[in-house]
Amino acid sequence: MEYLKIRPLRIDDLEAIVAIDEKVLGEKRRDYWEKKLQMMDDKASQVSLVAEVQGNVLGFILGDISGWEFGVPDTIGWIDTIGVDPAHQKKGLATALSQELIQRLKAIGVRTIYTLVSWDDWDLLQFFHAMGFTRGDMINLELKI
Ligand SMILES: CC(C)(COP(=O)(O)OP(=O)(O)OC[C@H]1O[C@@H](n2cnc3c(N)ncnc32)[C@H](O)[C@@H]1OP(=O)(O)O)[C@@H](O)C(=O)NCCC(=O)NCCS
Repeated sequence: MEYLKIRPLRIDDLEAIVAIDEKVLGEKRRDYWEKKLQMMDDKASQVSLVAEVQGNVLGFILGDISGWEFGVPDTIGWIDTIGVDPAHQKKGLATALSQELIQRLKAIGVRTIYTLVSWDDWDLLQFFHAMGFTRGDMINLELKI
């Protein structure tokens, strides 16, 4: 896409992210995003990005790098969330965001990237499949209480 700039996410991208999230999910979650962006540590902010076209943020990707939590080594990268404004989907924005994130993770020693996707979220599943992701060797367990 012409004029596309992939740059690190900043705290003042909050309103744009809230707006994209609302368009995607149909509900406004300002408090959620405010807390989430505030809680991002140095590692996560190094690898979280936005896609900007002519000053407008049209998509974002939140990444992270794990320490030894969950028993995985620190060469593991995570994709926490990805979102693209519905009016600008299918133009390669998510591809550009994830490729840049992958390059940044690779440059700091990450060799495996994990992400969690709901099994019925077909758009995201197809997107990650298109990016080369396959089923990993961890399974998620849950207990309803
Ligand atoms: C999934 C998502 C990130 C894709 O963004 P995008 O910018 O449209 O993706 P791209 O244009 O880079 O697509 C790359 C490839 O992924 C696949 N893909 C993307 N969207 C798809 C869809 N809706 N259905 C099927 N395949 C899809 C295609 O293979 C596509 O390649 P192609 O265009 O050559 O067919 C976007 O649809 C989105 O934000 N969905 C909502 C995700 C969400 O719930 N996030 C949390 C709240 S914000």
